[in-house]
Amino acid sequence: MREELTALREQALRDIAGAADLSSLELVRVAITGRSGGLTRAGEQMRHLSKEERPEIGKLLHEVRTAILGALEVRGAELSAAAEEAELSQIDPTLPGVARTVGSLHPLQHLQRRAVEIFRRMGFSLAEGPDIETEWHCFDALNTPPDHPARNDQDTFYLPDGRLLRTHTSSVQIRTMERETPPIRIIAPGAAYRRDEVDATHLAQFTQMEGLYVDEGVTLGDLKGTLEFFFRELFGSDTKVRFRPHFFPFTEPSYEIDVRAAALGGGERWLELAGCGMVDPAVFAQINDRRGDKAFDPDKVTGFAFGFGLERLAMILYGVPDIRMFVENDQRFLGQFVS
Ligand code: PHE
Repeated sequence: MREELTALREQALRDIAGAADLSSLELVRVAITGRSGGLTRAGEQMRHLSKEERPEIGKLLHEVRTAILGALEVRGAELSAAAEEAELSQIDPTLPGVARTVGSLHPLQHLQRRAVEIFRRMGFSLAEGPDIETEWHCFDALNTPPDHPARNDQDTFYLPDGRLLRTHTSSVQIRTMERETPPIRIIAPGAAYRRDEVDATHLAQFTQMEGLYVDEGVTLGDLKGTLEFFFRELFGSDTKVRFRPHFFPFTEPSYEIDVRAAALGGGERWLELAGCGMVDPAVFAQINDRRGDKAFDPDKVTGFAFGFGLERLAMILYGVPDIRMFVENDQRFLGQFVS
C-alpha cells in the first residue's frame, strides 16, 4: 500500500505539472480526485488494512492527498494567470479610446422645458390633446365661423374623413374644458400645422404653447401679471411687455404681446411674441352645450388664454437665423445647445 501511495503521488504530480491549460488540468483533477479517481480509491482501501497498519498508512495518505490538492491549486493558479495574460496581450492599451458623444436636448425641447417650469411655479399643469383634430375642437368650439380664412383648405391640412391637423394648440383648451371643471390652469405645448410655404421663417409643422386659466374672478390683470412674470423669468428682469389690441375669434378682448429685452438682441425693438385675451363667453357657451351642464357659466366664471410659437421664441433667444435649422438635424447646429 505504501508503494502504491508513493507511486500515486509521483504520477499525479507529474500529470499536474504536465497539464498545459486549464481544461487539461481539469481532466487530471477528475482522474485523481473524481469518484473513481486514484486518490478516492486509495481512501476506500483503508478499510481493508489491519489495525496496526492503519495509523501509518493513514498518515501517508493524508500527506499524499495534501500534496496533490496543493499541487492542483498551485498549477490552477499558474494556468489561469497565464490564460488571463494571453487574453490581455490581445489588447493594445496604447490605442486611443473610442470617444462617446453625449447627446443634448434639442433647443426647442430645452426652451419648452424652461417655459413649462416657469408656468408650473405659478400652478399651471401640463395638458395634451391629439394632433389630428375635429373641425369642432379646432374651430367651431373656438367661435371661429365657417368662412374664417384659417379654415380654408389653402391654410389647413384636411384629412379625407374631414378631420384636420390642428392649426393651433388652442384645441387643447377645448378638450380640457370638455373634461374638467373650473378652476382650470393648464399649459399645453405641442405641434401645430399650417399649409405654409417653407422658408426661413415658416415650416408646415411648428411648436406652440397654449395656456388657459378659468376660474371665478379671473381678470385681465391676472393675464397681464402672469405673462409679464413669464417673460421676465425667461428673458431677464429688464424685460418690458406690451399688450397691443388685436382680434382672435375665441378671446374678447384680445391682444398681441410685444416684448423688449436685452436678451432678445437688445435695445429698442419690440418683438411680437404671443397672442392672448379673455376667453370669449361664446366659447364657454359652446362647452356647456357640449357637456350638457353649466360648469362654465359665463355669469360666474371668466378666463384668459394665450399662445405662442416656440420656434420664433428660440430663434430670437438663441440667434438662429433660419427656422429650418430646427428640423435638419445637423449635429454641428444641435451640439451648440448643450444643456
Ligand atoms: N391660437 C392663437 C394662434 O395660433 C394664439 C392664441 C391663443 C391667441 C390663445 C389667443 C389666445 O395664433
